[in-house]
Amino acid sequence: MSSTFTRRRLLAGAAGAAGLLIVGGCGRDGGAAVAPTSDAVRRAEATRQAAGGRLVTARLTPRPVTLDLGGPTVRTWAYGDNLPGPLLRARAGDRLRVDLINQLPVDTTVHWHGVALRNDMDGVPGITQDAIAAGTTFRYEFTVPHPGTYFYHPHVGVQLDRGLYGVLVVDDPDEPGRYDAEWILVLDDWVDGTGRTPDQVLDSLTGSGMDMGDMHGMDMEGAQSQLLGGAGDVTYPHYLANGRLPSAPASFRGKPGQRVRLRVVNAGSDTAFRVALGGHRLTVTHTDGFPVEPRQTDALLIAMGERVDVELTLGDGVFPLVATAEGKSGFARAVVRTAAGEVPPLSQQPAELGGQVLLANQLRAADGVRLASKKVDRTLDLALGGSMMPYRWTINGKTFPDTEPLTVEQGERVRLRIANQTMMFHPMHVHGHTFGIADGGARKDTVIVRAMELLTVDLDAENPGQWAAHCHNIYHAERGMMVTLSYRQP
Ligand code: C2O
Ligand code: CU
Repeated sequence: MSSTFTRRRLLAGAAGAAGLLIVGGCGRDGGAAVAPTSDAVRRAEATRQAAGGRLVTARLTPRPVTLDLGGPTVRTWAYGDNLPGPLLRARAGDRLRVDLINQLPVDTTVHWHGVALRNDMDGVPGITQDAIAAGTTFRYEFTVPHPGTYFYHPHVGVQLDRGLYGVLVVDDPDEPGRYDAEWILVLDDWVDGTGRTPDQVLDSLTGSGMDMGDMHGMDMEGAQSQLLGGAGDVTYPHYLANGRLPSAPASFRGKPGQRVRLRVVNAGSDTAFRVALGGHRLTVTHTDGFPVEPRQTDALLIAMGERVDVELTLGDGVFPLVATAEGKSGFARAVVRTAAGEVPPLSQQPAELGGQVLLANQLRAADGVRLASKKVDRTLDLALGGSMMPYRWTINGKTFPDTEPLTVEQGERVRLRIANQTMMFHPMHVHGHTFGIADGGARKDTVIVRAMELLTVDLDAENPGQWAAHCHNIYHAERGMMVTLSYRQP
């Protein structure tokens, strides 16, 4: 088996370098693109390998499955028989080796969302590797540099909107762990196997600018949120918490008075969620893996691709943990239980959902992770545009792969000015880097840009290669809202 991997790796490496010609070549800024297979990438990886890092191995087998959502079953694609897929866990500095065995009928890849990893393991076909063909395997191997809550998913088409996602937790060897229990809540908007596949949803959006699910009810304006503006294009029949429908919720058990760390991941494709736990206040401690100045809130808003960690002290009873689909109708739900008693009725929504709602954009970076102040070497503008008829989403007027690469050089402080010129929000995600929101805001890799908002973020170009940057609404990304952050040779 290992010889198959080796051969595959060699092939992927060779083709990956050739594929670069598509995105690279010589840009307007002169220098040649720094290839995913370059020495610069290998050198950057070498500096990440902390002494004593362990090797953590796993295997992922995406394949067609039938999943039980808690009553209804659906035919879909997933990383095994459970949703979310296997929890992967490592310590910062460890090397992760994951063999991907593609049992899907189509190409796939895995992207390690939020991880500042070596470029050639980033999982973006056409940019960092060849797609992994049906029936073949690929070995991902990289060092995980930073602790935090991450997730993994394919980077091919709209496969993320199937059951193809799982969580990667990177533990901090130096963290005191001031909590008694740790829970993980993965939210998702679900359509696959209910009469339409995500590919059919994309086709109907592309054909008519409308999601055919809209025919049953929702007005032509689409989803609207007071906090975000336009809140999505797709009408989903279900919302899931840890793979379960609200009527058959997963339950988290603990004891009254215990401190819990709850890691929340939005693995949805077109839905932001407003999350609250009945009878509790939440203290937000991290977003996208990185610590923030702790902030208390009643509820939090989490967009596609974002992660938020909260701490809370458990009350005595049985409490609904609810995530409403922001600007849409419907919700996901789990249950928190510290005492005997009935599961709360579906109609019992936490009052906290109508209280104070925190967006990660409002958080401040914790002391140790705030971007050092530094002169900006390069400012890059990203104008976000789009239309429903035809259904297309643009960066600086173009759709990927025709978007003009954002070129940077190693060592630069880079400022991204993201101007959302649409009436819809876009959660913008940059691969391989964690930027800082302007003026000491949180360190993040995915950030909400509200309708018509101008948002400024800074990053240090210290992870060489070719990196995707895109909207994490998977339908927007697939219809053009993607660009490369392209390192160039000086
Ligand atoms: Cu989770 Cu390119 O994305
Ligand atoms: Cu978008």
